Amino acid sequence: METWDAIRARRNVRTYRDDPVPAADLDRIAEAGWRAPSASNRQHRNLIVVTDREQLRRLSTVWQGAGHIAGAAAAIALVVPRPADERTKVIDQYDLGQATYAMMLAATDLGVGSGHSAVGDQAAAREILGVPDDHDVAFLIGLGYPADRPLTPVLKPDRLPFDEVVRRGSW
Ligand SMILES: Cc1cc2nc3c(=O)[nH]c(=O)nc-3n(C[C@H](O)[C@H](O)[C@H](O)COP(=O)(O)O)c2cc1C
Repeated sequence: METWDAIRARRNVRTYRDDPVPAADLDRIAEAGWRAPSASNRQHRNLIVVTDREQLRRLSTVWQGAGHIAGAAAAIALVVPRPADERTKVIDQYDLGQATYAMMLAATDLGVGSGHSAVGDQAAAREILGVPDDHDVAFLIGLGYPADRPLTPVLKPDRLPFDEVVRRGSW
C-alpha cells in the first residue's frame, strides 16, 4: 500500500476475522516499533508479541476498553521501565506513541487491522505477560484482519475541522 493510503486507511479495528496473521507479518509490525525514534535514542520500550488465545482473553480484562483484544489474532504489548521522574514519564509516553503509530501504519500496509487499548490493572497485565515489577505495561495493540470491512482510505474521518486544527504561520 502507498504510505499516503496507509495513513488514510488506518482506523481502530476492534472486530477481527478468525484467521491468524502470519508470523513474518507480526515480526514486520514489531520491527516498525523497534525502528521508531525515541528521545536521545534511549529506547525505553520492550514489545511483547502475543498470539496465545488464553493470554489474549486474559489481557482483554485489564482495562474496560480492552475487550477487543480477546478476539484479536495477536496483540503487541508496549512495556516501559517505570520512569524515574515526571520529565522522563512525559517523554516516554511520547516515544511510546510514536512506536504505536509506526506499528499501526505497518499493520495497515499489510491489510492488518489494529486497535489500541490502555491498561488499567497493571498487576494483572504484568502477571499475564511475565513483566518485571519495575516495568509497566503501557498499552496493548490488538491485531487481526478486519471483520467489518477492508482497510481502505477513510474519506470523511471523524476529526475536528482541518482549518481549526492546522494554522499557518501563527495561532
Ligand atoms: C492513547 C490512546 C489510548 C486509547 N485507548 C483505547 C482503549 O483503551 N480502547 C479502545 O477501544 N480504543 C482506544 N483508543 C483508540 C481511540 O479511541 C481512537 O484512536 C480514536 O477514537 C480515533 O479513532 P480512529 O483510531 O479509528 O481514527 C486509544 C487511542 C489512544 C491514542
